[in-house]
Amino acid sequence: MLSKTKISKIELASYICNASGPSDSILEELEIIAKSDSSAIMMKSCTIKPRIGNPEPRYVHLPLGSIQSMGLPNLGYQKYIRFASQLKKYNKPIIASVAGLSIEDYRVMVEAFQKSEVNLIEVNLSCPNVEGKSQVAYDFEQTEKVLRVISNLGDIPLGLKLPAYFDFIHQKQMAQLILKYNISFITCINSVGNTLFIDPEKEMPVIKPKKGFGGLCGDYIKPIALANVRAFYELLDDKVSIFGVGGIKSGLDAFEFLIAGADAVQVATVFEKEGESCFTRINQELEEILKRKNYNSIQEAKGRLKHL
Ligand code: DHB
Repeated sequence: MLSKTKISKIELASYICNASGPSDSILEELEIIAKSDSSAIMMKSCTIKPRIGNPEPRYVHLPLGSIQSMGLPNLGYQKYIRFASQLKKYNKPIIASVAGLSIEDYRVMVEAFQKSEVNLIEVNLSCPNVEGKSQVAYDFEQTEKVLRVISNLGDIPLGLKLPAYFDFIHQKQMAQLILKYNISFITCINSVGNTLFIDPEKEMPVIKPKKGFGGLCGDYIKPIALANVRAFYELLDDKVSIFGVGGIKSGLDAFEFLIAGADAVQVATVFEKEGESCFTRINQELEEILKRKNYNSIQEAKGRLKHL
């Protein structure tokens, strides 16, 4: 496969896998991902205790993507540790996603996953949908407190799921922390938090939680995601692997993330809309583009963005 790649020391058979969020909360859904052409099995962001999440409607498809405020519905981290053992037989990298509601939660969950069968641990510092909780990665002091307690708990590579930044100084501050605490990979970007989509006929928002404020996904956020991937690629000097995510629904979108500097990409909205065949399709489209442009590997094309 032309599009095989690596995140930290973990080999992925192709450039595309699922993002944490859609259809990855229960074992049956994770087995569908395991049997698909997704190059990894990413699990739903988990908390210490199971959560039912926010009231519905909490996920709505939009013309160019989706808006969601799920509120972290999940089965609790211990279930995902058990699922990792049950999914091992598929011989595909398994990725945990942890979303603490406190610093101590992050410590407890990262410590537990460090002793589990997962291959990578993505630490979600950017969930926008829990009422009364801010996105950790917008607060650099809070982020450092989390990194201090999670960065030396074991050998499984740790990554950070980051929110969108809109100012270079913020990406620079975050990059300094990433390098200081030896973080192995980052995932850019989470859904753009606290956006508002309005139905003008009903004169109401389209989702119920938080008076309609929710995370925006899909085409709307692709340029924001590309900018964050590129900015971090330049700041991190290839010392840290990058997962790109945000509006990837074709091989051409994936190729744009590749030349911006992403080592691999994750897909969420397109998986929710199209089902698991999206992994096969996007992968084939990307392979054709690489062949047409005479690139022999992901590594050869990575970061190759030119300037005007
Ligand atoms: C949820 C949304 C996110 O964007 C995220 O990173 C984690 C959880 C949610 O609402 O469930």
